[in-house]
Amino acid sequence: MIEQGSPSPVLTAKTIFCAALLATATLPARATESVPAMIARDFQTAAAQYGGLLDKVRAQPGFPRTVEGGQLKLVGPGDWTAGFFPGSLWYLYEASGDAKWRSAAVDYTARTAPAKFDKSQHDLGFMLYSGYGNALRLSADKSPKRVAYRDALLAGATTLLTRYNPKVGSIQSWDLWKNSSWTFPVIIDNMMNLELLMWAARAANEPRYREVAIAHADTTLKNHFRPDGSSYHLVDYDPQSGQVRARVTVQGYADGSSWARGQAWGLYGYTMMYRETRKEDYLRQARKIAAFIMQHPRLPADKVPYWDFDDAAIPNVPRDVAAAAITSSALLELAGFVDKDDARRYREFATAQLRSLSSKAYLATSGENGGFLLKHATGHKPAGKEIDVPLNYADYYFLEALLRLKATRPEG
Ligand code: GLY
Repeated sequence: MIEQGSPSPVLTAKTIFCAALLATATLPARATESVPAMIARDFQTAAAQYGGLLDKVRAQPGFPRTVEGGQLKLVGPGDWTAGFFPGSLWYLYEASGDAKWRSAAVDYTARTAPAKFDKSQHDLGFMLYSGYGNALRLSADKSPKRVAYRDALLAGATTLLTRYNPKVGSIQSWDLWKNSSWTFPVIIDNMMNLELLMWAARAANEPRYREVAIAHADTTLKNHFRPDGSSYHLVDYDPQSGQVRARVTVQGYADGSSWARGQAWGLYGYTMMYRETRKEDYLRQARKIAAFIMQHPRLPADKVPYWDFDDAAIPNVPRDVAAAAITSSALLELAGFVDKDDARRYREFATAQLRSLSSKAYLATSGENGGFLLKHATGHKPAGKEIDVPLNYADYYFLEALLRLKATRPEG
């Protein structure tokens, strides 16, 4: 769970040095490498890195989240990022068919089980669907484990419904912080938890999950977005009247700025909700967000965004590879819902992003980066936390995007 922000730290010499290096690293290291070769190389790197990471952490409780002060940081099943490690293990299994990844994925998925009854946060989609959702998808029809996977997901979805307020038409993201004036905070990230509800509606043949997901997406569509397609991070509502009380940021640069990962969550969320509902409003919004990101004048040439599009110190600010990975995965899905020319534009952009992420500037070489894959993610800059570090969710969406790219391209 995200903690209340403290003042921005001054830029470190390391950040400025990395920013300068990345500014010059705008071309992929291997411009002639074919896409299938790049994907194969990335999965080899992922297998080597995650193999080492697994050896380091398996005997301990907890899930690797990042590297902090040179130390690997493990978190418990109540952390919003817990599900991404099992999710990445499932993607490694999907890419290779190697039973070693499957067994590790099964083990780590089961470790996320306590989240299914956690009523204190909205992130149950991240926490459960990344592990259990992939577990169910990748388990054979007759696998006896399917019942447990399904039960865990349904329990999590039912728990998530407890945070829904029909007056607001939204799921409350965070519980109220001490000393905060908010009464019902909803963050754009919350769009990502709706996939669990859409799945539950189908699995249980129970429309309530779907109704809540659609209400939340509609309310967010109405209140979170600006005319240019960008979004606020947090909208606070009056839980009695449903009226908007404030539009602010916690993880971004300023209330009116465009926090890069928030834009990526919105893009992914509305693309996913269009897949699930075929509501044209959702497709329109996803396309607006895509245009905002793709045409942004402050998007660097390598297409890996700065942590916030509006930080006044650009270009001497950290990047966020997580925003790039989420965006590329979302664009590859969005390409399936538009005409041929737009599909090509989205795929080309996503491929360019993935080429950048696959270059030495961002992809770890063997043994570095604490065992994680991608370097240069930014978790919570205003709080001075997780700046220019690896993050497990950056790796998860990178692997997902690579699998999506593999599925959409002919071999060769
Ligand atoms: N709350 C999810 C994020 O930090 O992006």
